[in-house]
Amino acid sequence: MSRVAHPAGPRHGDVLPADHPPAAPEDLNELHEEIWPRGARRSGGVLTLGGVDVRDLAAEFGTPLYVCDEQDVRSRCREYLEAFGPDGRVFYAAKAFCSRAVLRWVSEEGLGVDVCTGGELEVALSAGVPPEQITMHGNNKTQDELARAVEAGVGHIVADSFEEIARLAYLTEDAVRPKILVRVTTGVEAHTHEFMATAHDDQKFGFSLASGAADEAVRRVIACPGLSFAGLHSHIGSQIFDTAGFEVAAHRVVGLAVRIRDEHGIEIAELDLGGGFGIAYTDEDDAPEVKDLAESLREIVDGQCRAAGLSRPRLTVEPGRGIVGPSTVSLYTVGTIKDVDGLRTYVSVDGGMSDNIRTALYDASYLCALASRASDAPPMLSRVVGRHCESGDIVVRHAWLPADLAPGDLLAVPATGAYCRSLASNYNHVSRPAVIAVGAGAARPIVRRETLDDLLSLDCG
Ligand SMILES: Cc1ncc(COP(=O)(O)O)c(C=O)c1O
Repeated sequence: MSRVAHPAGPRHGDVLPADHPPAAPEDLNELHEEIWPRGARRSGGVLTLGGVDVRDLAAEFGTPLYVCDEQDVRSRCREYLEAFGPDGRVFYAAKAFCSRAVLRWVSEEGLGVDVCTGGELEVALSAGVPPEQITMHGNNKTQDELARAVEAGVGHIVADSFEEIARLAYLTEDAVRPKILVRVTTGVEAHTHEFMATAHDDQKFGFSLASGAADEAVRRVIACPGLSFAGLHSHIGSQIFDTAGFEVAAHRVVGLAVRIRDEHGIEIAELDLGGGFGIAYTDEDDAPEVKDLAESLREIVDGQCRAAGLSRPRLTVEPGRGIVGPSTVSLYTVGTIKDVDGLRTYVSVDGGMSDNIRTALYDASYLCALASRASDAPPMLSRVVGRHCESGDIVVRHAWLPADLAPGDLLAVPATGAYCRSLASNYNHVSRPAVIAVGAGAARPIVRRETLDDLLSLDCG
């Protein structure tokens, strides 16, 4: 898609993504189990989540609202653990959605937590996540953040730059030796359905394998008496549906592990393959089963290690989206409805790019359903848009909604648990929505809605 400025009007046809709405579903009221939270049902036509009627949720907590099915999150934690354990480890990537309640749930289920800022670290510590079950990431950790991570005794720190290794060496002169993973850039970048091996590692994260920087980083960590070299970390992308990219990355990482053994006489104890496992957002997404994914990753790493004469290091994965993504539904109230020249109907809701930036940012696809009642009306091709002053403020680019949709109806957008609340903003001075946990017919806020007073209180004018 071209990003250059262009006049509005006829040229939009060639600068916007190809406009291929999916075919209308046979039943607009159906809830596909791969996409909706496990506790989603229709009762008398009305959507219920974790046994709670969405009309009651809207009445009590207002809209827009994120509704998170606790049992869905917990069950996915158990699936990942079962698939990768008992010899592997699963760390929840808190960047996907970071709140005390969710970090407590994942920790209770036996997962560790990966954090990438001091803020996420504080949430994890205050949620009671055992420090040794925390991995500290980040490509630009400040001295204070590193000091806090060391002082708290986090299980692993992922080294991302030479400056950081030097800072850590300075911080740990007299302290316990934190375990260090060296983040390597394998030259593989993988996203949904496609992966490419880049010739050069043109990105900010990690140490390049191709340039030899990764070998040098390991050398420097091993040379530091205050640091304990634990192994290697590689993260290749997001929303990945097949393991081809992991295979190339593992091959390259194991190549480095062989060089480490040959140069330092050390076999790496840990290999962290990062996150990025895909989920279904629409009917077109065919996400792999976690157990199949785990099996192929293990086979890939086993095969590469066997071929290289290494014993298999302990495998860690860091799913974020795969744990919380499918658990959450965004609830909106329909405002204005506009038919545009018979092209499509624009349905405006009371949220938008401030609570879900993914459509505008990544051209992400979502589904949408009428939630507060069932309807037998014919499908109407719609675009669900927000209330912000941007024409790119789109929540669902192509939505099939019943033609009798009316202002005041509730709409539900599934699979918004990851990278929606965590990327939410106050654009246009809207307050960020609450997150409500549901289960067994009960609902409770786990993140409260911001108020206008919250926003005004930041203004020192
Ligand atoms: C280092 C690292 N680990 C884990 C994740 C989680 O990825 P996902 O939520 O796609 O599983 C990310 C996402 O950017 C990441 O950068």
